[in-house]
Amino acid sequence: MIRVRFVAADGSAREAAGVEGARLLDVAQADGQPLEGTCDGDLACATCHVVVAAEDFARLPPAIEEEEDLLDLVPSATRTSRLACQIRLTPMLDGLTVQVPSI
Ligand code: FES
Repeated sequence: MIRVRFVAADGSAREAAGVEGARLLDVAQADGQPLEGTCDGDLACATCHVVVAAEDFARLPPAIEEEEDLLDLVPSATRTSRLACQIRLTPMLDGLTVQVPSI
């Protein structure tokens, strides 16, 4: 299992885990995180926005252009923002920390 740490807007953290290949969005939703994922990964909604811990950001494969374009429309996006539907868990990502913005 690949471990992920979700940090809520109030700073509280929860540890979760997913199998290799699982989407971060699915792991988050299984853990009860408030990520809607309305378009279920079709890069059409950005309701799966998370802010990756700065020290972990470089471990992720780069975003494709469509993801970047969508993130540009998210008012709360930061330099380390990603869309959770586009992140697949790999052993490289074990221990990943992401902040889940409040909705
Ligand atoms: Fe819609 Fe990620 S679920 S863009």
